[in-house]
Amino acid sequence: MATLGVNIDHIANVREARKTVEPDPVTLAFLAELGGADGITVHLREDRRHIQDRDLQLLRETIRSRLNLEMAATKEMVNIALDIKPDMVTLVPERREEITTEGGLDVVRQIVFFKDLVRKLQDASIPVSMFIDPVNDQIEACSEVQANWVELHTGKYAESSWTGKHYEIARLVEATCLAINLGVRVNAGHGLTYQNVEPVAAIKGIEELNIGHTIVARSISVGLERAVREMKKLIVNPRKDFPFGPLQ
Ligand code: PXP
Repeated sequence: MATLGVNIDHIANVREARKTVEPDPVTLAFLAELGGADGITVHLREDRRHIQDRDLQLLRETIRSRLNLEMAATKEMVNIALDIKPDMVTLVPERREEITTEGGLDVVRQIVFFKDLVRKLQDASIPVSMFIDPVNDQIEACSEVQANWVELHTGKYAESSWTGKHYEIARLVEATCLAINLGVRVNAGHGLTYQNVEPVAAIKGIEELNIGHTIVARSISVGLERAVREMKKLIVNPRKDFPFGPLQ
């Protein structure tokens, strides 16, 4: 049975839209854990568009499950990882202009680079996962660079038509088998929703699913009615005593 890593980037997206202090991804990570999250995933992007360095530091100090740091394979990020020591690092490709992580890493063409980087993180006792498309030569390359995990990109599966889903699931199954045969553990994620998660969760050998957007979206849906009711109550029946003194 797969475990669940909850990606909380989108909570920070809402906060950063106003550059204020709420919603706070650190506080809400605690609620995700209460709900059963087996891990908390954050992507510290080069442009800091959502998660900030301070969030990462506070999450390291407060969460009780596992902290999975998604990051680009850059010197800056490696130094941050070596300092924060997350429970695992997931290396992802990153382009400034993308809305979210688009394709998987090209490990095949950068074997020496990734081998050094993976070893550097592992030498600091940080296991490494590589976010890749479910493609044989990328999986073989991840084995060659001695990554601990691959995270299989489920975006194509999520976006495929109803009739295409069978094929995309077969690709994920084949990729999972190959990785495990090569001694690489398997996670998966991207684009998974309440409607499409079950066939992926049923794939034997996938250890963890990393899911973000749909969970944050659902939390707005299930929480909005209560949030409005609470605000309405304050407006309809405001108290008269304020900590800063009575109104004139
Ligand atoms: N895994 C990786 C590597 C990602 O980059 C993302 C998106 O940040 C996710 C999983 C979660 O994707 P989603 O938000 O679509 O659930």
